[in-house]
Amino acid sequence: MISRRAFLQSALVGGSIVAAGLTRRDLQLDGPTGDFRLEDVTVAIAGLPPAFHGYRIGFLTDLHLGVWVPEEWIVRGIDELSKRQVDLLILGGDYILVNELNLWQQLGIVRSEKFSAMSKPEAIPAIYSTIADIFDGRQFSDGIYGVVGNHDHWNAFPIFQTIMRERRGFSILINEEIQIRRGEQRLHVFGVDDYLTGLPALPPSIPLTPGLSARIIVSHNPDYIPALLQHPSCSFNFAMCGHTHGGQIVLPILGPIAAQVADRRFVSGTRMIGERHIYTSRGLGVVGLPFRLNCPAEATLFTLVQA
Ligand SMILES: [Fe+2]
Repeated sequence: MISRRAFLQSALVGGSIVAAGLTRRDLQLDGPTGDFRLEDVTVAIAGLPPAFHGYRIGFLTDLHLGVWVPEEWIVRGIDELSKRQVDLLILGGDYILVNELNLWQQLGIVRSEKFSAMSKPEAIPAIYSTIADIFDGRQFSDGIYGVVGNHDHWNAFPIFQTIMRERRGFSILINEEIQIRRGEQRLHVFGVDDYLTGLPALPPSIPLTPGLSARIIVSHNPDYIPALLQHPSCSFNFAMCGHTHGGQIVLPILGPIAAQVADRRFVSGTRMIGERHIYTSRGLGVVGLPFRLNCPAEATLFTLVQA
């Protein structure tokens, strides 16, 4: 049986491919094997502790490993960052995409034969185990930390928890904060649960002291940020988010037509709110449609500097 939702999705995708005149070859050319950018972003923070001037953070989000995104794309994203002396790697959630239709196989739009041959119950643990294996063996001086996305909640969250939280090579932060220390100077990193599907909390209510402490928020969904800003005790300097894919399909004149974010200030790139930097990455993978248009896949390198 094919569900109504799945049927509508098939019709939409098939129609879009025909309307766009895209061939199988076109569809293979997006993502890190084709249109991929390493975005170099300088984040100037007033009161940044001096020990963190020049600190480098790599950010990969919306990996969506599965039928459309093969392992090699993610490896390429992490390889690009590894070349740049990154101190800390952050993962922005949505590690998985499970397609329940065989339409893609019929259209020849499959980039991972391994996952396309699996049923959904087989694919979910296989995808998370593959992600965990990719990041387990990587070394960054201050480690690897990730947050959870809506697709992780939707696709058997207990399996995500079991596989991703038991690995030693990285940690998943769900309403948890870590501190990176350089003597007395501290960089706080708070990873929040997904805004849409989880139970997001506020970061610990502690004052940030210029020159001694700064805080980064990692939220899969940027719509958490306006909610956080409304809270009187909210204190942070910089937030990094994903989820929107930058719209994934960006049409001339019309712009991004399907960015899943209520606050349109946060579709992609940097937005300043007062002295706070909010950055939304276009992410690495795809959902809904198996390609991107005028919206290259992204790995991000943030360099913190004193303002
Ligand atoms: Fe996503």
